[in-house]
Amino acid sequence: MTEPEIVVRPDPDACARAAAEIIAETLANASAQRGRAHWATTGGSTPGAIYRTLAVPPLRDSIPWDQVELWWGDERFVPADHPLSNAKIAEADLIEIGSLSGESGTGGSGADVAGGRTAGAPIPAGNVHPIPTGLAIAGSHDPEWAAERYVQTMRSVGVPTDGGWPVFDLVLLGVGPDGHVLSVFPNSEAFDRDDIAMGIPAPTHIEPHVARVTLNPKILDHARRILVVAHGASKAAILADILGSEPDVRRLPAQLARRAGATWILDEAAAAALHR
Ligand code: 6PG
Repeated sequence: MTEPEIVVRPDPDACARAAAEIIAETLANASAQRGRAHWATTGGSTPGAIYRTLAVPPLRDSIPWDQVELWWGDERFVPADHPLSNAKIAEADLIEIGSLSGESGTGGSGADVAGGRTAGAPIPAGNVHPIPTGLAIAGSHDPEWAAERYVQTMRSVGVPTDGGWPVFDLVLLGVGPDGHVLSVFPNSEAFDRDDIAMGIPAPTHIEPHVARVTLNPKILDHARRILVVAHGASKAAILADILGSEPDVRRLPAQLARRAGATWILDEAAAAALHR
């Protein structure tokens, strides 16, 4: 196993700044090299502060937003305006208000100010591709329906592929307290499936207890760049296990991001138990 780069910063704010800088550079490089930058982002506690850093100068102005395609690695099976929605975090802190309307990637209102903040990153509404959980729920469909529709969108937008697997320029990940990434929990059935995206039953061992839609963990083998961000003392023991023990990705799915091309950004508290 080729080990990833580990970056330790004093606190969560410094982690968010370091992550935002890497994201901005990665998106700009991808766009310069291939004309498009496909970014699969995350949910949980990680992305909010990162988004807020990306949504204002100077980083906002260093990214060719019209060439960025924004995807999600996983989503809770809730409507897009639900407090648990991963897409909602981006609407709150990154993208222009209204860009998630209808979850279709169209229909942004382009409002200048909402909730006291400026409009954010000028990513075109058509480049924003939330997992359509809200549409699924509204139509009484299940998580598999949302997953299939999401994969169709990836095909129609033209995410590059390698052996049939999407190749994201950047996958941003948080790490769950059980060592999960995406919504791929320890011993997940996702390891035995070949679908690019799939429904996952509500986990009982970890909150929130809602069904999910996740990308297949195999997409992490094909991503050009992976960025993992985790902070807090509560993650110290699991991070030491993930980064220090023999690889067993079914036990610790986050070990899928222990690879070349991955950078882990941890604060001092989260890194406290690592052998350094
Ligand atoms: C989700 C996420 C998930 C998250 C981790 C870490 O939908 O919950 O996408 O993979 O990144 O659970 O979450 P925290 O940062 O909140 O611990």
